[in-house]
Amino acid sequence: MKKSKKAKIGIIGCGNMGRAIAERIKSIFKTVIFDKDAAKTRNITKVITAPNLTELVNIADVVILAIKPQDFNEVLGEIKNSIDNKLVISIAAGISTKYIEKILGKARVIRVMPNLLVKIGEGVTALCNGEFATADDLGLAQEIFDKVGTTIVLEEKMMDADTAFLGSGPGFHFDLLSRIEKERWPEFTENEFIPSFAASGEKVGFSREQAKLFAELIAKGDLVLLEELNESPGALCIRVTSKGGTTEAGLKELKGDVERLPNAVEAARKRAEELSNEAATFQAKRRRKVA
Ligand SMILES: NC(=O)c1ccc[n+]([C@@H]2O[C@H](COP(=O)([O-])OP(=O)(O)OC[C@H]3O[C@@H](n4cnc5c(N)ncnc54)[C@H](OP(=O)(O)O)[C@@H]3O)[C@@H](O)[C@H]2O)c1
Repeated sequence: MKKSKKAKIGIIGCGNMGRAIAERIKSIFKTVIFDKDAAKTRNITKVITAPNLTELVNIADVVILAIKPQDFNEVLGEIKNSIDNKLVISIAAGISTKYIEKILGKARVIRVMPNLLVKIGEGVTALCNGEFATADDLGLAQEIFDKVGTTIVLEEKMMDADTAFLGSGPGFHFDLLSRIEKERWPEFTENEFIPSFAASGEKVGFSREQAKLFAELIAKGDLVLLEELNESPGALCIRVTSKGGTTEAGLKELKGDVERLPNAVEAARKRAEELSNEAATFQAKRRRKVA
């Protein structure tokens, strides 16, 4: 494996996340991208556009899977024979490193969970390594995601809690901000949101220091994002709330009350766990069908 900045990074999928990552890392790493919809990569500059998946994998030392969980089987099947000993980084919610290793065969896999704030370089990204990834692999993955914000290394069993706390946190914050006047946002965030949100992070398993640090980073990042996108918190909340997802489950418990944040994060964690189980069952069924 080439070390650090010499590594060529290949990104599969140029949607919300793939594009945001490419834009942030392209000045440091040689970056190549492929999306099955060529229109999505047409106006991206200083990034090589691969004509197909095989070509992307041939060029890249590291392959980032920035596609939706439902597209995993197809993409893994296509790259399986050309992946060799390359490092594979998945950013998909609910897809375990074991699942990817099973299809790719003892591949070096890192699972990463970024959040919305990567768009402005203020993301909080959790990483965990699969069975065959080395400490150098984890170091390189951290180096890449340090370019889109702050990184934290977790055990894989914490990934559902991470999805709920770091992933759905901005949605909860936007919902609460949408209920008060703009002048009060900074004071509300500092004095009410951050303490209650940090407590909810601790409740789902983060240490007190981690929960406090990440609550602060996320809350302040949310305010910058609102400013930069010039959108209302209500509109942003709707944008980050997928139907049947973790944020939606949390919002039902939040009920617009900052003190209910621990309930909201716990409900989101439960939903993340359910989604991971559903994904595992669905994938196992598909594997049996294919076999
Ligand atoms: N959005 C978030 O805030 C967030 C946060 C953390 C993690 N994630 C994870 O990040 C992943 C990507 O999410 P996203 O929001 O960026 O999704 P997205 O906007 O839908 O982007 C995925 C892109 O991949 C393309 N694609 C699908 N199949 C492909 C293939 N075979 N080859 C090449 N490209 C293909 C899609 O094209 P089509 O649209 O034509 O299918 C789409 O352009 C998901 O797994 C999600 O769980 C997202």
